[in-house]
Amino acid sequence: MKLNDATVLVTGANRGLGHAIAVELVHREAKVYATARRPELIDVPGAEVIRLDITDQSSVDAAARLAGDVDVLINNAASTAGGNLVTGDLDSIREVMDSNYYGTLAMIRAFAPILARNGGGAVLNVLSAAAWSTVDGNTAYAAAKSAEWGLTNGVRLELAGQGTQVAALVPGLIATRTLLDFASKTGMDLPQDALYEPEELARIALDGLEAGDIEILDRFSGEVKAALAGPPRAPTG
Ligand SMILES: NC(=O)c1ccc[n+]([C@@H]2O[C@H](COP(=O)([O-])OP(=O)(O)OC[C@H]3O[C@@H](n4cnc5c(N)ncnc54)[C@H](OP(=O)(O)O)[C@@H]3O)[C@@H](O)[C@H]2O)c1
Repeated sequence: MKLNDATVLVTGANRGLGHAIAVELVHREAKVYATARRPELIDVPGAEVIRLDITDQSSVDAAARLAGDVDVLINNAASTAGGNLVTGDLDSIREVMDSNYYGTLAMIRAFAPILARNGGGAVLNVLSAAAWSTVDGNTAYAAAKSAEWGLTNGVRLELAGQGTQVAALVPGLIATRTLLDFASKTGMDLPQDALYEPEELARIALDGLEAGDIEILDRFSGEVKAALAGPPRAPTG
């Protein structure tokens, strides 16, 4: 998969990792649709801007009508706030599942026929090491990312026949405002050697996609995945 002659749609391109991916795609000479719930906040020179809320089916359908030449779909947008599963606010837990799981699924269902028409192409879902390891204070997000991992594996199987490459980017820790705010609120210790700038992670993601990798890991998520082979760790203390 070469990106310099690809047409790529990125969700959540107004900030954080999605913004860095959209900018890097323009740099690699792809045609880019940068999308966001509030398109006026998108600052990606060279990209076409589309309003898109992935949890609103009519918004998803409208984006699919506008971007019928897409051959790479990057599902980055997600709510990362969900709190804890047992004591957290249920609306917030639903919102996190709605965007990570159902929103991503709505995008894939709307764009799968477009990808097929355009030669197969690729889907890149942005997951998280939280799919494999959870932290107190955000267990609902981790559960939603686990569901999105399962979704990604299922969709890979279903779309293989139409020649669509389905890949997962599994970041550990990205120094976006959202993570930095969460860490300062909860006192979470951010190991500096595992923390990536969004721009660096964007390059890792797109290099992996171009190489045909189906799971794109960083240092931290690689270690977390390897630890899955061991017994589950019970919380201590
Ligand atoms: N930061 C990390 O450490 C980290 C680690 C692993 C994985 N990730 C994953 O990487 C991705 C980006 O994370 P980030 O840190 O860049 O997040 P972020 O800065 O909080 O940005 C989230 C983006 O998703 C958009 N979004 C949320 N719900 C949406 C919806 N219903 N429709 C359309 N857009 C929606 C937000 O739009 P608004 O501005 O309108 O809210 C924003 O553009 C997420 O999938 C996240 O789970 C992040």
